[in-house]
Amino acid sequence: GLLDAKIKAKGKKYFGSAADPGTINTAIDATILTSDFGAYTPENSMKWDATEPSRGAFTFTNSDALVAFAQAHGRLVRGHTLVWHNQLPSWVSSITSAATLTTVIQNHVTTLVSRYKGKIYAWDVVNECLNEDGSLRSSVFFRLLGESFIDIAFKAARAADPAAKLYINDFNLDRPGSKTSGMVALVGRLKARGVPIDGIGTQTHISIGNAGTIAGNLQTLANTGLDVAITELDIASSTSSADQAQQSSDYKTVAKACLAVSRCVGITTWGVSDKDSWLTAAKAPLLWDTNFVRKPAYTGVDSAF
Ligand code: XIL
Repeated sequence: GLLDAKIKAKGKKYFGSAADPGTINTAIDATILTSDFGAYTPENSMKWDATEPSRGAFTFTNSDALVAFAQAHGRLVRGHTLVWHNQLPSWVSSITSAATLTTVIQNHVTTLVSRYKGKIYAWDVVNECLNEDGSLRSSVFFRLLGESFIDIAFKAARAADPAAKLYINDFNLDRPGSKTSGMVALVGRLKARGVPIDGIGTQTHISIGNAGTIAGNLQTLANTGLDVAITELDIASSTSSADQAQQSSDYKTVAKACLAVSRCVGITTWGVSDKDSWLTAAKAPLLWDTNFVRKPAYTGVDSAF
């Protein structure tokens, strides 16, 4: 593929996109997904509410379709996500026993990771566990288990697929500050306890004008000794030509940032076209417009590679 081939020529593993049955079953999206992208992250289909809506009852129709599409085209998959406080069914958030929650986490993680063993390049094992001040977020997981919920999830994932890279993933890791410091400190504690972790995902949901600190921050995260990946890139803007020109420059800056950091393995954008972005078409955050025409943002990434 085009952007994927170019980033690989620069020594990276993939240029990826979020995808799911809604896009892989739309011809124009599928054409772009296979022309420019070498890795897919299921936008919603592997989340807890989609895969285990009630305890022990698993549904994999949509996630199986995404993985099969990737396999058919020889592309990587980033599994997303195993333990997250959002898109979490109420039967999990209403658990009150630490022992029960431990068993539930272990069963959920083991079931998903085993199902796709050998087909997932990297898993976002734990998603968005930090507050903006760098402390641990008060989810059901943290309230009942403290930080050990992270250990439980990563150990179960490693046991189920020893070859998959295991990531912790979060947003607002784009600049120095308490959240970035909190992530670095958390990773240090996890490594000191022997938790099997391979990477830090920085979602990189940003707005125009905020790309300049990303290269330095990727290096800060990589200095933990882990891989780093840009996992959900989009740049909120407007449809005005001035803002789209700024966005193009910002995309180039982000793409260059990954190239500049040897431990940065790849970049995933959070969707293909502005038509289907979770941020809405009005923010025009992606590389293709609502008519599936390449935008200045595409040229920005292309020129970085
Ligand atoms: C978003 C999806 O894009 C939406 O379709 C869904 O309604 C909500 O979740 N951080 C994450 C992603 O880790 O899973 C989120 O995806 C965006 C923020």
